[in-house]
Amino acid sequence: MTEAMAETMQVRAAVFRGTDGDRLSVETLALAPPEHGEVRVAVRAAGVCGSDRHVLDGEWQVPLPAVMGHEAAGVVEAVGAGVRGLAVGNHVVIAWHQACQRCGECAGGKPWACTRARSNDSLLPDGTTRWSDAADGSAAFPYLATGAMAEAIVVPEFAAIKIDERVPFDVASLIGCSVGTGYGAVANNARVVAGESAVVVGAGGVGLSIIAALRLAGANPIVAVDVSEAKLAEAERAGATGALLSGPDLAERVHEATGGGADVAFEAIGRVPTMQQLPELIRPGGRAVFVGLPPEGQKVEIDGLLLAYEGKTIIGSNYGGLVPARDFPRVAGAYLSGALPLDDLISARVGLDEVNEAFDAMRRGERTRSVILFER
Ligand code: APR
Ligand code: ZN
Repeated sequence: MTEAMAETMQVRAAVFRGTDGDRLSVETLALAPPEHGEVRVAVRAAGVCGSDRHVLDGEWQVPLPAVMGHEAAGVVEAVGAGVRGLAVGNHVVIAWHQACQRCGECAGGKPWACTRARSNDSLLPDGTTRWSDAADGSAAFPYLATGAMAEAIVVPEFAAIKIDERVPFDVASLIGCSVGTGYGAVANNARVVAGESAVVVGAGGVGLSIIAALRLAGANPIVAVDVSEAKLAEAERAGATGALLSGPDLAERVHEATGGGADVAFEAIGRVPTMQQLPELIRPGGRAVFVGLPPEGQKVEIDGLLLAYEGKTIIGSNYGGLVPARDFPRVAGAYLSGALPLDDLISARVGLDEVNEAFDAMRRGERTRSVILFER
């Protein structure tokens, strides 16, 4: 590491203080250099994801002030001591679920189930933060141990996954959350095989990613369900072979479209009523996969006979069961081959100063995905 790289930097970042409603402020914070096993990444693109909105709208509590954002891609610009797998100049996608890499779950190929992960603590895995207030030195916290809506971030080496440089940064950023989650739900959690029928409830950023991954897996038909005609049109562009507006007779119409219920159904909204209905959309022996995150503490009721008599399977999905070091390059490869069309998932490219407008557009249900681009 060179002398210059070891210095604390002044970095512009989108910060949530919780003192001005749901508004973020773009501020200059101090970012300490990467320590042992860490890298500093110049962020080039950061997606505006629903999980950030949960915090801004008071649905989930996190330590404040928080540097928001967790869906990002960029270029390694400094490496700490002991970093073996990355070098300055590498293009990387950030994994926000920072597993310890050493416990039984991690060693067994389930890093998303890591018992020591600190992904929700807003701290790096060593329990510290590299962020502080540029004026008074008080701590600031990286949301989901990432804090990616910033010109630069420091993360552990294992949270920055090297990918092919030909993947544009805006697309690459989505691989770290929405696209990776959708791909993983299909490939890892549901293990969809060619020819299976599928239904996806909710065609937002995550739902469209699931649809694209279903097409990659060869599912047919792929039925999209949403309350918005505009979202259903996007779903058809992403690979859905059919689209249904939500309504009271939804289960009946899904059964008609899939010849008796889908082999596999995905909930990609995080609402209890749609989660409860999911097992009714699949055939006996089918799989219902829960991807959307409901508000804390809400219960989902399911008819026991659907499980014990009709043999339906409920599958939980956390970060798509991703093994980032294996799955991010796979997703990037599928994109580069043309088999996984991801460009259309991005509906707006904005600057860091437009971050509040991007969240407002999400609240109005206008955009699939806004991506913040950084020029540095
Ligand atoms: N029936 C069908 N579709 C609905 C309904 C409903 N009752 N209510 C909302 N929707 C649709 C919206 O129109 C929108 O297209 O669900 C979609 C939700 O998409 P987004 O708000 O863009 O959310 P997204 O970023 O895709 O995340 C979905 O996954 O990872 C989690 O935290 C995330 O819980 C969130 C979920
Ligand atoms: Zn996300």
